Amino acid sequence: MTPTEFRKRFPVLAHRVYVNSCSQGALSVDVEEAFALYLESWHREGSPWELWVAEVNRLRAKFASSIGADPDEIAVIPSASAGINAVASALDFSGPRSQVVMGTFEFPTMAQIWLAQERRGATIRWAEAERDVLPIESYANAIDERTLIVPATHVCFRNGFKTDVAALVRLAHDRGAYVFLDDYQRTGSGPIDVHALGVDFMVTGCLKYLLAAAGIGFLYVRRDLVGRFEPTMTGWFGRVNPFDFRIDRIDWPESATRFESGTPAVPNAYAALAALNLLGRIGAGAVAAQVGRLVERYHAAATEAGFVVRTPADPDRRGPLVVVDCVDPARLLSRLAARDIVASSRGTGLRVSFHAYNDEADVDAVIHALEAESALVARRQARPAAAS
Ligand SMILES: Cc1ncc(COP(=O)(O)O)c(C=O)c1O
Repeated sequence: MTPTEFRKRFPVLAHRVYVNSCSQGALSVDVEEAFALYLESWHREGSPWELWVAEVNRLRAKFASSIGADPDEIAVIPSASAGINAVASALDFSGPRSQVVMGTFEFPTMAQIWLAQERRGATIRWAEAERDVLPIESYANAIDERTLIVPATHVCFRNGFKTDVAALVRLAHDRGAYVFLDDYQRTGSGPIDVHALGVDFMVTGCLKYLLAAAGIGFLYVRRDLVGRFEPTMTGWFGRVNPFDFRIDRIDWPESATRFESGTPAVPNAYAALAALNLLGRIGAGAVAAQVGRLVERYHAAATEAGFVVRTPADPDRRGPLVVVDCVDPARLLSRLAARDIVASSRGTGLRVSFHAYNDEADVDAVIHALEAESALVARRQARPAAAS
């Protein structure tokens, strides 16, 4: 499937310049049909739970293969927060390793869940950013023999900075700490191989570049670690056989399903599987190539226009999101909306993000609109003229 064919699957693109996949992916006809299929199965069968649980397991297998993992390393969870909580609940902070090292680019839910572990004996140490860059050296200054785990966002939701995960894993593992990757702002925008990267845990969810709906996330746990953890945030779907209905004892299966808790969000599993199948038809490599081209075009044009671009120019240090500083984000967003452009903001940053369904005309439309609304966009200070 070519990017042009892919684009045609998303009706919203016929009347909007949609550059908000960092917040919510656009709705494809495939995902819409999957919801209808779920409803139809409910109408037809009444309560086809075996069929529905099988769909969730198909989703688990499909997601696993999309990140280079095996199905038994994947927990299907209702949100990224649920996966982070399940892992945190399994950790023991009473030993010599009680420290959590986090960068200041984390999404709030990641930071808040680990801050909550202070009640259970954890201590938090921050790896500090230098403005919109979080160098590995900041982690190197913070990770030591007391560090248990390093939760790290892959791409920052606020400025688009991309962490060098391979370097972070080397550093943390050398010092005996786990790495817990939050890939939410990247998954679906290009390939990843979790085994090759060596991360210990990874969490992500479906509503952004995975192009589905809220209610489904995924937790990857490296196979050799699974058996070491007994999450106390748990429930009947976290058992060896949920349909044993035992209330007198608890067990944890030898797979990542031990990190699951309650009944899965079946309608959203239908949607998520359809979206993954669609992404599979274009291919992760082709998605990455299209996204990379558009990010480069937008970044270069915004820089050329004199805007304050907060996302790195280095393609290795950025993902599908580019952030430009603005003067009045709410006003700018409503001006863009009046031009049928859907974007979002965090703080003073205007977030414009690309998927394989976007094209060059989308980039040019956003740049044109920002130039037309330039009073609302921050500009770089003109360089003082060189002394002659
Ligand atoms: C980096 C990152 N992590 C996590 C989340 C959301 O987590 P949850 O699925 O728990 O709502 C987001 C959503 O915006 C995000 O950008």
